[in-house]
Amino acid sequence: MPALSEIKREWWKEAIVYQIYPRSFQDSNGDGIGDIRGIINRLDYIASLGVDVIWLNPVYDSPNDDNGYDIADYRQIMTEFGDMNDFDELLAGMHARGLKLVMDLVVNHSSDEHYWFQQSRQSRDNPYRDYYHWWPAEKGTPPRRWSYFDKESNAWAYDAQTDAYYLHYFSEKQPDLNWENPKLRAEIYDMMHFWFRKGIDGFRMDVITFISKHDGYPEFEEKYQGQHMIDIYAQGPRLHEYLQEMHHEVLQHYDIMTVAEGPGTKPDNVMKLVDERRGELNMNYHFDHQGIGVGERYIINEDFQNLVEFKRVLTEWDEVFSEHGWNTIYLGNHDFPRMVTRWANDSPKWRATASKMLTTFLLSMRGTPYYYMGDEIGMSNIKFDRIDHYKDLMTINWHHLTQAEGGDLNEFIESHKITARDNARTPIQWDSSEHAGFTTGTPWLPVNPNYTMVNVAAQEQDSQSELNFFRKMASLRKQSMTLIYGDYQCLFADHEHAYVYTRTLDDEQLIVLLNFSEQSVALELPMAVKDSALINNYDHVDIDGKTVTLKPYQALILNTLA
Ligand code: NOJ
Repeated sequence: MPALSEIKREWWKEAIVYQIYPRSFQDSNGDGIGDIRGIINRLDYIASLGVDVIWLNPVYDSPNDDNGYDIADYRQIMTEFGDMNDFDELLAGMHARGLKLVMDLVVNHSSDEHYWFQQSRQSRDNPYRDYYHWWPAEKGTPPRRWSYFDKESNAWAYDAQTDAYYLHYFSEKQPDLNWENPKLRAEIYDMMHFWFRKGIDGFRMDVITFISKHDGYPEFEEKYQGQHMIDIYAQGPRLHEYLQEMHHEVLQHYDIMTVAEGPGTKPDNVMKLVDERRGELNMNYHFDHQGIGVGERYIINEDFQNLVEFKRVLTEWDEVFSEHGWNTIYLGNHDFPRMVTRWANDSPKWRATASKMLTTFLLSMRGTPYYYMGDEIGMSNIKFDRIDHYKDLMTINWHHLTQAEGGDLNEFIESHKITARDNARTPIQWDSSEHAGFTTGTPWLPVNPNYTMVNVAAQEQDSQSELNFFRKMASLRKQSMTLIYGDYQCLFADHEHAYVYTRTLDDEQLIVLLNFSEQSVALELPMAVKDSALINNYDHVDIDGKTVTLKPYQALILNTLA
């Protein structure tokens, strides 16, 4: 186990990342859509949380087929969000408060309204033709490719103008960029320099594992059909060559952080992305825990809160980085449901306690925590009961597909109350006024009706609130090299209700005890512990000798006497 003096310290390993989905954070002009001015107005709140880095979802010019993940101009700000002056003011305001800004880099695909695509589809000999992937119709139907958002799951769209199909792993309005073309790569690197010269502090790279496509678009084996194609999409033959080139051309010139969104990354391939000796990216986030108990089209089964499996996955991922690379920890983001609904209990009785328990987990693991806005006040899923309440094209299209196949729509709606992305996209609940203080207009997505009880203003007044618990936990992590760098060991791996682990660095050992259930749990520990808790979401610690009894959803961090 390395001593602190042997560990390569980095600011991004010691940071807490707070994610802002701008559409839902704060509206400032009454159009019902969050905007950059709204974030500027809330900067003091963000700084008060004790976080270090803000990851901002895309704010670039976009027709919003996929809420900004379909970019029409990489160097302009979306009108709904403001303009470049607002952006510059936001960045300066963050830096003035010691906050860093990480932007989204969405370069697997652009919008079909991007100038490059508008040109590309004009004619087969247009200079931009090779900026995208085309399959001429005279070659017949293209080999099967699965699409996340297409109404028929088909990633090839026919375009009559040039009698050819173009590739889109996401929606028809998100054509995949052709990284095989060096001119396209040069354009992207140039655009990255543009943002770094403005002073941003890093990029979160959207589905970056998909950028290299297989030469000649071969048919994939049967086992990779449907959603399983994700695994092979992530294994494009030139992925690492491109990332090393990007590192050489751009990343190495700045003191910044990078994190891959890594669908298809697994413990046995992730090191290629993040081993610092290879010069690619700093971090990656995987989907393995999010997939527990969740099947095709996000239909859940009884395993979706299987804690033993959850611990197994997270422990396996921790081991990968024991010598090189660095892990990430997250439970939710704009693509997943609210953490308290997904992983614990959002009933009025337990929501607050369970949220604090999950906050303790996120901020006490080894790896940079990515914390999603609103989780600090324990926001929970809105649970729409009708498809026409949803705005997310993924949910809408999957519902359409299920209907077309004569599938079980009731099961679909029930599952999506737990899993759908819109659950995490409802507006932040600032106070108990109309629309939770998010907007004076009509919010683009409804506010969760629990805002009258669950909101920032109420929690500011309450020293025991989820919000103030978050601040306390964030400050503990910042002060504790053991929580940041300490070795991680999972205890009671087979226990169905408790997640217990030690974090050890030099001569300090902490033990984190988390009860993921509604029942009390007694645990006989292998070592003696101090009874004064560093963190506790109850006001009492029940210790008898080496036996600690945890109340429902209790979270404790104690010093051991080992
Ligand atoms: C991942 C993003 O997080 C998600 O919101 C988006 O829909 C897809 N990539 C496509 O860009």
